Parts: sequence; structure tokens; C-alpha cells
Amino acid sequence: MIDRSPSVVSGKALIDILTDGSNNRRPLWFMRQAGRYLEEYRAVRKKAGSFLDLCYNPEMAAEVTIQPLKRFDLDAAILFSDILVIPQAMGCELGFVENEGPKLSTVRCMSEVEALSVENTVEFLSPVMETVKLVKPELADHVSFIGFCGAPWTVATYMIQGGTSPDRFLAKKAAFDGEPWFDLLIDKLVISSIDYLVAQVEAGVEVLQIFDSWASDLPDLQREKYCYGPIARIIEGIRVRGVTVPVIGFAKGLGPAQIDFCEKIPVQAIGVESSLPIDWIAKELIEKTVVQGNLDPVLLDAGGNGLREGVRHIVSKLPKNRHIFNLGHGVRQTTNIDHIYEMIDAVREFDT
Ligand code: CP3
Repeated sequence: MIDRSPSVVSGKALIDILTDGSNNRRPLWFMRQAGRYLEEYRAVRKKAGSFLDLCYNPEMAAEVTIQPLKRFDLDAAILFSDILVIPQAMGCELGFVENEGPKLSTVRCMSEVEALSVENTVEFLSPVMETVKLVKPELADHVSFIGFCGAPWTVATYMIQGGTSPDRFLAKKAAFDGEPWFDLLIDKLVISSIDYLVAQVEAGVEVLQIFDSWASDLPDLQREKYCYGPIARIIEGIRVRGVTVPVIGFAKGLGPAQIDFCEKIPVQAIGVESSLPIDWIAKELIEKTVVQGNLDPVLLDAGGNGLREGVRHIVSKLPKNRHIFNLGHGVRQTTNIDHIYEMIDAVREFDT
């Protein structure tokens, strides 16, 4: 029998690595750790009615935030919510259709952007802050609590396309055409995101992650303006408001431009995609910043020797005082939870 009780940790490994590198074990958590691959999540989700009802029900959202921590030996909890609650707070209509994903009312011209409100973000999202307050006292001392928001580019793509889209064509076209309404939309998302993150920290989160899932859409000459710029403005904005917690930037798919990302934006760590080679990370990136990632979620889904070797490859090449073990993207719905135990056991085993 493998001992699955949390290993002895002094302090909070995630916060320690993000502040002074004094962590005594490799911090480990994974994106979408609360979600449909867990039967106890599916049960609460059913009781809530819809995904959004779950997001706005503090008791239930707190429960699903904590569920993975009850099963697995993790170093962080991530607040249960979604990046698309910001557009909703601004006045967009939002729904989640089963097996299809998010559907939003579209924003495609100046008058539609002008109609969006940045005044009520925190009030509209107050149930999320209630969730934070309910979760905080339930977490073990060594577990860090992560809050988050989406990066303006990624959130804007959903608002312009009206949901998930294969190529984000309309959003890219608006950005690359230099549409003034597009710039105003980004500015409004920056303002709302600052208010939202400050409120999350005031409610009790200890680390922030900014998700730019579609950062790879932006070519060299646009990346500065629409990926680095808005994220840097959000971080400057929260610092001016007195927020000192560490920030993890996750600009998925930047490849070698991850170097620019961590040099141009004052983040304490960067999350990286699964396709980024570990040897390259070890050689080019790890001296510059703490790196989070990047096991392929499909390796986790597949399990077996491929999973074990994938974990070994990452853990053996990246030092534990510069690396946060995670996936390169969220855990897949079809993942067998036994594989998650195996992944965590393998990280701990290869580290000893
Ligand atoms: O555990 C966690 O990671 C915390 C909660 C969280 C969710 N979404 C819950 C969720 C977080 C941090 C997110 C971020 C998010 N949401 C992103 C950025 C990260 C990424 O995945 O690239 C994006 C792009 C979204 C928007 C979104 N939410 C989409 C496109 C979808 C549909 C696709 C899908 O997986 O179903 C969602 C739904 C969603 N968000 C679910 C969960 C648990 C599934 C909803 C359900 O229960 O039906």
C-alpha cells in the first residue's frame, strides 16, 4: 500500500518557491483540479443545476474547490469560478451549453463596447468572494490558495466570437485592423480584472494566476500590445492598490517567446505549455524565472509507463526550488483518478 497521506512539509511550498525559493518540496497542483473527472464534482454540479449556478453558489463552489484536496496530496487549491464571469459582470449574457462550452452575447463595435460597465465588477462577483472566505479556513496550513482571472486578450476572444472558436478569426481581425473599439475593450477588461483580483486577495487568496490561453494567436508585432501590455498593466494596477501576493502568468503556447514574457512582465512564475521542451526550459528559462508545468494532460489521461516516464523526465531535469509541477493545460474530463494518484506518487518518488 502506498502511503497517500500528505508528506511532511514545513511552510507553504508554493508561496516559498514564488518568494525566496526556500521550498522544502517541489510544489504540485494542477489546472482544472476541480472538475468533471471527479464523481463528487459531478454530484455537486448536478445539485447546483448548471455550471454558472455552481460558480455563484458560495457553499457549493467552496465544496468543489476543496474536493481535490481531500483526495490528493496537493500544495494549492484553486478558487472554483471561471474566467468568463468578468464579461458577465460587465453586462454580457453568458451561458454554458452542455458539451459545447460557453455562449456569450457578442461585442463587435464601439457602441457595444461602450455599453459594457466596469463599475459593478466586484459587487456582481461578490458570491465569488464569499466562496474565498468559506474555503480559506478549511485549507491545511501547507496549502496555498490561488485566485485567478483571464488575460484580456483571451477573454476578449470569447466576447468577440461569442464563445469558443477554432481560430479566433474575428477577434484577431479586430486586433490586427487596429479597431479603436478593440483597444477600448482591452482597457475595460484591464480595469475590471484589477478590481476583481484585488477583491479576491482582500477575501483571502494568497497567489494569483492570469490565464492567457490563446496567447499563441498573437504574432510578434501584436504580442507586445495585446498579451504582455495588458497583463503588465493588471499587475501594476494591483501593486498600486497594495497587493503583494505572487503572480503566475500562464501565456499558453508562446514557445521561445516565454523568455520575453517573463522578462517583460513582472511575474513571479510562468506556466508553460506541454510542447515546450524540458531541456530548453532547463537551459533557457529556469534561471530567469520559476517555471510551472507542463505534463501533457493526455499523458495523464493515458496513464501507465508513459505517464511515469513523462513525470520522471520533468522532475529529473528541473530543480525543485525553481519548478512547480503542473500540467501544460487543464486536466481532461475523461481522466481516471488512479492516474492522478500515480502522477503525484511519481513526482514525490523521483524527488526523494
Ligand atoms: O480547477 C480549476 O482550474 C479552477 C476553475 C476554473 C474553471 N475554468 C472551471 C471550469 C478555471 C481556472 C477556469 C479557467 C478558464 N475558463 C479558462 C482558462 C484556462 C483554459 O482552460 O484554457 C478558459 C479558457 C475558460 C472558459 C471555459 N470554461 C470554457 C472554454 C469552458 C468549456 C470547456 C469545458 O472544459 O467544458 C469552461 C467550462 C468550465 N470551467 C468547466 C470547469 C470545471 C466545466 C464546466 C462543467 O462542469 O460543465
